[in-house]
Amino acid sequence: MDSIAILDFGSQYSRLIARRIREAHVYCELFPYDALPERVLSLQPKGFILSGGPASITTPGAPTIPDYVLDSRLPILGICYGMQALAEALGGKVAAGVRREYGSATIETLIDNDLLPPGSQSVWMSHGDRIETPPPGFLILARSENSSIAAIGDPEVHYYGVQFHPEVRHTPGGNAILRAFLLDICQAQPDWVPDSIIEEAIAKIREQVGNRRAVAGVSGGVDSTVAAALVQRAIGEKVDCIFIDNGLMRLGEADAVAAMLRMIMGDRLIDIDAGSLFIEALTGVTDPEAKRRIIGEKFIQVFNSEAQKLGDIDFLMQGTIYPDVVESSATEGRHSARIKSHHNVGGLPESLPFKLLEPLRYLFKDEVRAIGLALGLPPSLVRRQPFPGPGLAVRCLGEVIPSRLKRLRMADKIVTDELNAAELLHEEVAQAFAVLLPVRSVGVMGDQRTYAEAIAIRAVTSEDFMTADWARLPHDLLARISNRIINEVEGVNRVVYDITSKPPATIEWE
Ligand code: XMP
Repeated sequence: MDSIAILDFGSQYSRLIARRIREAHVYCELFPYDALPERVLSLQPKGFILSGGPASITTPGAPTIPDYVLDSRLPILGICYGMQALAEALGGKVAAGVRREYGSATIETLIDNDLLPPGSQSVWMSHGDRIETPPPGFLILARSENSSIAAIGDPEVHYYGVQFHPEVRHTPGGNAILRAFLLDICQAQPDWVPDSIIEEAIAKIREQVGNRRAVAGVSGGVDSTVAAALVQRAIGEKVDCIFIDNGLMRLGEADAVAAMLRMIMGDRLIDIDAGSLFIEALTGVTDPEAKRRIIGEKFIQVFNSEAQKLGDIDFLMQGTIYPDVVESSATEGRHSARIKSHHNVGGLPESLPFKLLEPLRYLFKDEVRAIGLALGLPPSLVRRQPFPGPGLAVRCLGEVIPSRLKRLRMADKIVTDELNAAELLHEEVAQAFAVLLPVRSVGVMGDQRTYAEAIAIRAVTSEDFMTADWARLPHDLLARISNRIINEVEGVNRVVYDITSKPPATIEWE
C-alpha cells in the first residue's frame, strides 16, 4: 500500500493534514520532525509533507529538515513553516515577517504547474515569516495580495512549498491541491479503502497472534466494538471478549451492548454485571478526578480477575485509535501543545501481563466507522455518539448514588429521544446529553413550592471533539425537552442550556 510520511513541526493543523490525506484514500503517518530516520523510512513513503509550526526558521536552533528527507530524492510538499524550512535548506532566503498574514487571502496562480489549478482561489494564511528569494531552480507558482511568494516549486525534483494551509476547511480548494500532490506528483495509489484496510488488519492480527490467545476489553463504544469484530474475524475462537457493565451506562444501554456483542462474539462473550461494585466504590465521592481514578481502578480489578479465569492468554485487545496515539505522543514530544488532558479511563495499564493488540491503532474515527459498516455492524452502532469511559459518573455532578443516576438517565433519554426525533443527532449535533447538577433551586409546581435539582443540557457541534461549539438548537426543541424533563423526571424542577464553547469549557462537565 502506498504511503506518505508527514513530518510534524508542531502546527495545530498537523493532524488535519493526516486526516485529509487519508480522506484521499492514501495511507499516511505523522512523525515528529526529528523522529528516527529508520522509523520514518520503514513506511517506504512515496513522498514527504512538512507541516507548519510555531518556530521561525530565521531563529538559531529552529527545527530543520533532516538530511535523509532530502537524500531520499522523494517528492516534498512544505506547508507554511515546512515551506520556509525547505527554502532555507536549499539556499533560498527567508525573512522574519514584519507583518503577519492571518486569515483568508486570495492567491493567483502565475504559471501552469502540477500542484495548483490555474486562476485565483481563496486560501487560509497564518504566518509571520515569508520567503524573500526562492532557492535556485524554484519557480514562483502563486502570489497573494500580501505575499509576492505564496507558492513555490521545482518540478524537476518534485519539491513544492505553499505559504497557506491547504488542509483547513477555510481553503476550499485545499483537498484538490493535496490530491494533486499525492496522486500526480507522488504517484501514490488511492487504495486506502475499507476493504483493503480490513484485509490488511486481519493479516496483521493473524501474524501477531499466531496460535496464541487474546482477550478483548470491550466497552460497547464504536472503537472497541469495531476492533473486536475485526479480531473475531481474524482469529475467531482464539479471542474471548469481556464486557463489564459498570452501572454507569445510559438507560437500557448495557443490555443493548451485551446483545450486540453476543451477535459478534457468540458464546465467547463474557458479560459481567459489576454495577453495584462501582456504585459502592463511588459512595461519598464528589471530586471529578477521584471519580475517574476509582472507576479506572475498579475496572482494572474486575477485568483482571475475569481475564485470569480464562487461563493462558497472551494478548489484550484494545480499541486505541490514531488520535489517542498522536495525542499521547504529543505529550511526550515537545513540539505540539496538548489540548485534551483526560485519558481514556477504559484503558488498561501496561502492568497487566499481556502484549497489546491494537488493530485500530493507525486509524482515524471516520475510518473506524467505515470499516465497522464494511464488517456488517449496524449503522446505529457505528454512528453512536462518543460516551466517556467513566460513563454517567462524570455527568452526575456531586455524589453518584442510584436515585440521582436514575434521574440523570431519564433526563438523558429525553434529550436523546428528542434530538433523534428532530433528526439532529450525528449530522448536525455531534454530541448531546444531560448533566445533573448538585444544586437545588426553588420552583413552584401545581401551587406547591419545590426545592429540587437542576439538569443542564449540553449539545455541541464538533468535527473532532478537540474543539466544539454549543449547538444552536431550535428554541421549540429546547422547550419540549425542558417540559418533558420537568414533567417526567422526579426531583428536577429546572433545566438550563449550556452555551459555552470548548475551549474555554470542555464538552463534559467533569
Ligand atoms: P472533553 O470533556 O475533554 O471531552 O471536552 C472530549 C470528548 O471525549 C469524551 N470523553 C471521554 N472519552 N474517556 C473517554 O473515552 C473519558 O474519560 C472521557 N472523558 C471525556 C467526551 O464525551 C467528548 O466526546
